[in-house]
Amino acid sequence: MATVFVSGTLPGDAVATLAASHRVVQDEAGVRSAAFASCRADVEAVVALLTDRIDAAFLEGSPRLRIVANVAVGVDNVDLAACKSRGVLVTNTPDVLTDATADLAFGLVLAAARRIAEGDRLVRAGGFTGWTPTFMLGTRVHGATLGIVGMGRIGRAVARRGRGFAMPVVYTQRERLREDLEAELSATFIASLDDLLARADVVSIHCPLTPATTHLFDGPRLARMRPGSILVNTARGPIVDEAALAHALTHGPLAAAGLDVFEAEPAVHPALVTCPNAVLAPHIGSADRPTREAMASLAASNVLAVLAGHPPVLSSVDRP
Ligand code: DGY
Repeated sequence: MATVFVSGTLPGDAVATLAASHRVVQDEAGVRSAAFASCRADVEAVVALLTDRIDAAFLEGSPRLRIVANVAVGVDNVDLAACKSRGVLVTNTPDVLTDATADLAFGLVLAAARRIAEGDRLVRAGGFTGWTPTFMLGTRVHGATLGIVGMGRIGRAVARRGRGFAMPVVYTQRERLREDLEAELSATFIASLDDLLARADVVSIHCPLTPATTHLFDGPRLARMRPGSILVNTARGPIVDEAALAHALTHGPLAAAGLDVFEAEPAVHPALVTCPNAVLAPHIGSADRPTREAMASLAASNVLAVLAGHPPVLSSVDRP
């Protein structure tokens, strides 16, 4: 029986499954909690959340640790090199959250372009005084060109949704997709992000957060976007410079933005909060119940497999 630390409260029966064969210590406050400190010398597995920072200092005090099972597809909260150098395996939860996240991304496209959240606020404030032909005109989604930055699982799922809205799809990432995938998605590869921004009316971000993608959307790049275009980010907040985004929403060229992630969560840049054309969601991309249960269950299955001496059940983490 190994000691497994579970960070936070997980939906579904993942914790019960782990507790059936291992000693589980769980704490809402995560890996910086006193509960973790009391078991860290024995802990062999950690089920971590994206709010847990797993770095060299953390690993230092847990010499028996074998696996960090992140309940997220993104692993930017984990120092992969430090884990590797200590022989700690890192896993994530790909696939199970693809459609939920793509649904939310597309919801943000629609909400931002058609001013749904702004309209909701207006109605609640008693500002709806009657239909007129010029009232709350927004941006057309149907047939607009959809630009995807990072055509992994979630990017591809957003592209499929875009096809349902007759949107021509262009994408950029380091490597071009296989020809059959490109054909299935009717997606056109554009090698340079700036060239993609020159063509796309709606841009949806789906690349991982790395040093190379931090502030990928900075002031100069946002200024290169098409006048009246829409930016959606359901990946990681620091990919977009929030202060620069607020400027581009206020002074152009952007018509609107939909954000599910922020640079310093849970804080949101004050300038962004005052932009009526920013739709702000509290990092709920994967937050439908079956998806969150599947994420927790996959993390638990990865822990059980690794503790039993097997490879993880499913993970897409590349070890550096
Ligand atoms: C992830 O999995 O990386 C998301 O941000 C959480 O849904």
